[in-house]
Amino acid sequence: LLVLVLAVGSGFAWVFTTADVSTVGVVDFDRELAVPPLAQSRLEADGTRVFQLDMRSGQREFEPGRVTPTWGFNGDHLGPTLRARRGEPVRVVVRNGLPETSSVHWHGMHLPPVMDGGPHQPVAAGATWTPQWQVDQPAATLWYHPHPHGETESHVRRGLAGMFILDDDESDTLALPRTYGVDDLPVMVQDVRFRNGAFDGSHRIFRDIGFLGDRILVNGTLSPYREVGDELIRLRLLNASTARIYNFGFADDREFALIGTDGGLLERPADLDRVQLSPGERAEIVVRMRPGERVALRGYPLAAGLDFFTQRFSGGDDSFDILQLRAAETLRPTPQLPATLVAQQTPDGSASARERTFDLRFAQINGQPMDMNRIDATITRGTTETWVVRNADGMPHNFHIHDVQFRVLSVDGSAPPAALRGPKDTVYIGPNSTVRLAVRFDGPADPDTPYMFHCHLLWHEDRGMMGQFVVVEPGGAAGTPPRHGGH
Ligand code: C2O
Ligand code: CU
Repeated sequence: LLVLVLAVGSGFAWVFTTADVSTVGVVDFDRELAVPPLAQSRLEADGTRVFQLDMRSGQREFEPGRVTPTWGFNGDHLGPTLRARRGEPVRVVVRNGLPETSSVHWHGMHLPPVMDGGPHQPVAAGATWTPQWQVDQPAATLWYHPHPHGETESHVRRGLAGMFILDDDESDTLALPRTYGVDDLPVMVQDVRFRNGAFDGSHRIFRDIGFLGDRILVNGTLSPYREVGDELIRLRLLNASTARIYNFGFADDREFALIGTDGGLLERPADLDRVQLSPGERAEIVVRMRPGERVALRGYPLAAGLDFFTQRFSGGDDSFDILQLRAAETLRPTPQLPATLVAQQTPDGSASARERTFDLRFAQINGQPMDMNRIDATITRGTTETWVVRNADGMPHNFHIHDVQFRVLSVDGSAPPAALRGPKDTVYIGPNSTVRLAVRFDGPADPDTPYMFHCHLLWHEDRGMMGQFVVVEPGGAAGTPPRHGGH
């Protein structure tokens, strides 16, 4: 065991240990990929779509003969896929059947801050929380997960995560694969490690990245394959891992079409052979299958942006199998992808009302750790701002803003690559990199209830690399965030 302390700042050290460094490698693809069920819902007379999510503990045999304690929504592990349309009023009855306080955050959703499910909306053990809002954003692949203050990593790692798919009339008119579980597959990727049957959550490899596993679960399945019967298969990739970054590609380096990012569809499909996702990010890709073939989706070493040491000890140079697609001997023909998809609705930055800078450094933002009682930014409803976010400590980070979908204006002064040209709510920021974002804040105004912005490497978030903003009416001032016992 070798322990190296690399840097000390603000009473805080990055600690590297070389214990248990392992790569995830190749698997046999011997289990059928699970597809999360679509959540049941009921429609009320006024058109409100009502879902129920029960958070509970359970157990799952990921491999025969080994029982692992887990947490899940409406089941033992992970949660059903919620699905709603633009314009629909939605209500979710969230019941916390866990032995501790948690919360449920709707990642990527535009909604009032009191419905957001962040650290200011804790749901105590045994309690029920019933957020309600109207879906008011384009078709997209969003997701939901707990966000309790300081405990997000441990709650997500045990299995609390699910997808939330939004539809709209515009995307329905496009010739895209759209049959859920058939030619349109959710692909939630998480790394785990087992120790005596249980999930091991210790930070053994590289303590200050957070948890890194040595096995990959896709929709909760180890070593998965999926039989497909269509020429074009749409994969909704979600990095639901707590810290690991994936550079997705196919084993034969074939090109695929990137059609969507975090907040919805692109202007036009982009042909790529890799797409990198840090925790919380999504990508919708469409891959062409040939009759009878088997092809593996894999994770490749990170494209760039980490020094040798960090790459090695953050798992950034690991290579591993994710999911094998097995094509039928005869495939249903699919129409060509449309040449254009949707007009971009994110702001272009030309009407920016002000610029703010955020330095990510040693589990703090701008030199301060998260404080539930401090508002870091007060923003006028309906304005666009330029947010300049800088990774200032040499570790991998990303940046997520609640409630909004933003546009990446530049990465280190250059135009963003294709994978960052769509609507985004989370963006990777490599060591010593700077991104410029155009963000429009539509509110609604609520001076007393903050939204969060934070690094989505969950251990960093839990340690304090997070801040709070409120949206106010023109001329308004920030109020007082609600107080919660203990914080
Ligand atoms: Cu996906 Cu503030 O989180
Ligand atoms: Cu971070």
